[in-house]
Amino acid sequence: MMDTLKVENLHKRFPVKGGHHIFAVNGVSFSIRPGETLGLVGESGCGKSTVGRMIVRLTQPNEGELLFEGQNLSHVKKKDDRRLRREIQMVFQDPYGSLNPRKKVQDIIAEPMRLSGEKNKEFLKEKVVSILKMVELNEGYLDKYPIQLTQGEQQRIGVARAFVTDPKLVVLDEPTSLLDIRFRGEIVLLLKKLQQETGCSYLFISHDLNIVYQLSHRVAVMYLGRIVEEGEAEQVFRNPLHPYTKALLSATLLPDPKQQRQEFFLKGEVPSPLDLSDSQCNFSARCPFASEQCKNCLPGPVTMESGHKVSCFLFHEELVKTAG
Ligand SMILES: Nc1ncnc2c1ncn2[C@@H]1O[C@H](COP(=O)(O)OP(=O)(O)OP(=O)(O)O)[C@@H](O)[C@H]1O
Ligand code: SF4
Ligand SMILES: [Mg+2]
Repeated sequence: MMDTLKVENLHKRFPVKGGHHIFAVNGVSFSIRPGETLGLVGESGCGKSTVGRMIVRLTQPNEGELLFEGQNLSHVKKKDDRRLRREIQMVFQDPYGSLNPRKKVQDIIAEPMRLSGEKNKEFLKEKVVSILKMVELNEGYLDKYPIQLTQGEQQRIGVARAFVTDPKLVVLDEPTSLLDIRFRGEIVLLLKKLQQETGCSYLFISHDLNIVYQLSHRVAVMYLGRIVEEGEAEQVFRNPLHPYTKALLSATLLPDPKQQRQEFFLKGEVPSPLDLSDSQCNFSARCPFASEQCKNCLPGPVTMESGHKVSCFLFHEELVKTAG
């Protein structure tokens, strides 16, 4: 079956003062299959939102390809533009900030349909009511304003707005991180239910590894604009390979508390993504296993027999040893 999304060697640099550049995304590749959730994790500033924004075409990549069901998103013909905007949707982090405070719930939810050319008022109303039901809210919400809703209800409206156009792919950019803890679980359950009902794919961006574990089929770990590890959620969470993933996970509660995991904490700050070079492992400044090689060359991805991928010289050596 064709991938819903295939991202190949994506780059995004933001020009800043003095002729310098912020290297936000540096050669990211991954794919998402129909009905699958790929969790994208990593510390603040590693480029997660920039990847998400390129997929929904809010930001233009400098290099690389984005293929949605095989169609290149960098060269969208006018006739395909509206359809693609319906089929690829995004849910944002800030539920209140992303809803227009002067509009009623029914108009907020109907807006993406209107923007994509739907004018039939009766159809719009029917669709809005059915989508409200899907996000477990009743018709009593149609005439409410965002300020009259709880945070959890506001985010349900944000989700409804994304699902009203029957998307095939939804980019969820930290949809729970600004919510009060009591609303997080219910939004996660709702997202799971909606995926089961509609069969859509998710790119789920989050800092919260526990939530990523609950929602994702596969996980990609980003560090300074690159994916350093990728695999099935079980593989990455139970048997992390990259030193950075190990460090991220040692600060998190384990899926299985009886399981022992190597304790290993991150030292130092995330280095700046300003004028990054391709001539070293970007994690070398914080990595306890860094060797001379790590400071002079960039480790390429190695794929294990299980399909688990990692970019770290420790595994290059292991492969050389087993091959020898
Ligand atoms: N429009 C922009 N102009 C300049 N720099 C930008 C712009 N957008 C993002 N950046 C920079 O690009 C890098 C990646 O940012 P991005 O928002 O993608 O990170 P993130 O992983 O989503 O972080 P967070 O977890 O904090 O949301 C950061 O250094 C950020 O400051
Ligand atoms: S390549 Fe070297 S510095 Fe980078 S994560 Fe692996 S061991 Fe650490
Ligand atoms: Mg972000």
